[in-house]
Amino acid sequence: MEIVTIEGGFDRNLCYLLARDDAPDREAVLIDASASADRILSELAARRWRLACIAITHGHGDHIVSLPPLLRDTDAVLAAWRDSAVLDHAPPTRRRPLDDGAWLEVAGVRLQALYTPGHADDHLCYYAPEAQALFTGDLLFVGRPGRTAGVGQDPRQQYRSLRDRIAPLPGAVRILPGHDYGPVPSRSLAEERAANRWLQAQDEDEFVRICEAYEASRR
Ligand SMILES: [Fe+2]
Repeated sequence: MEIVTIEGGFDRNLCYLLARDDAPDREAVLIDASASADRILSELAARRWRLACIAITHGHGDHIVSLPPLLRDTDAVLAAWRDSAVLDHAPPTRRRPLDDGAWLEVAGVRLQALYTPGHADDHLCYYAPEAQALFTGDLLFVGRPGRTAGVGQDPRQQYRSLRDRIAPLPGAVRILPGHDYGPVPSRSLAEERAANRWLQAQDEDEFVRICEAYEASRR
């Protein structure tokens, strides 16, 4: 699978175009709509790819800013957590609501939706086992998890999402996050486990203490 990383948007956002290497019809899947629509459409045109699906990690504004123009200018379907208000952007026939553990199979790309609330209550990660890739949105960046100090956010849920849905995955899997906040844009889960103190927390309470200390350090 070919993965094209596009940086841009509100705050060093990263979005991704995915296409199967041997697809006869070069259709692509977009993970998050954070870069400008012009930029995303020009990356597609440069490769003669057609956008078949937009898969959204969560409904925060910076991740969906280009959703309306992309839905208007392409016939892509829209995938998101089954209860996410994001789905309202598309007409019912173009919505692909995803359950926890569901497989999204489109354009020869297979992605498993992992429901991972905490930073946002409609948050999905997308796991591509064939590519050994995990699109982590704002659940997990290189170096730290997404913040959970705001209204509607919950560090304890974030901990459980990381423990139950991410920790079981193989160390060779690369995380591809929703923002470029770390020393490098991407790292393997094994590297992340060795370097990210949140992932080393022994329990929920320790995780919360690390979150609180981090928030205090930003003030
Ligand atoms: Fe977010």
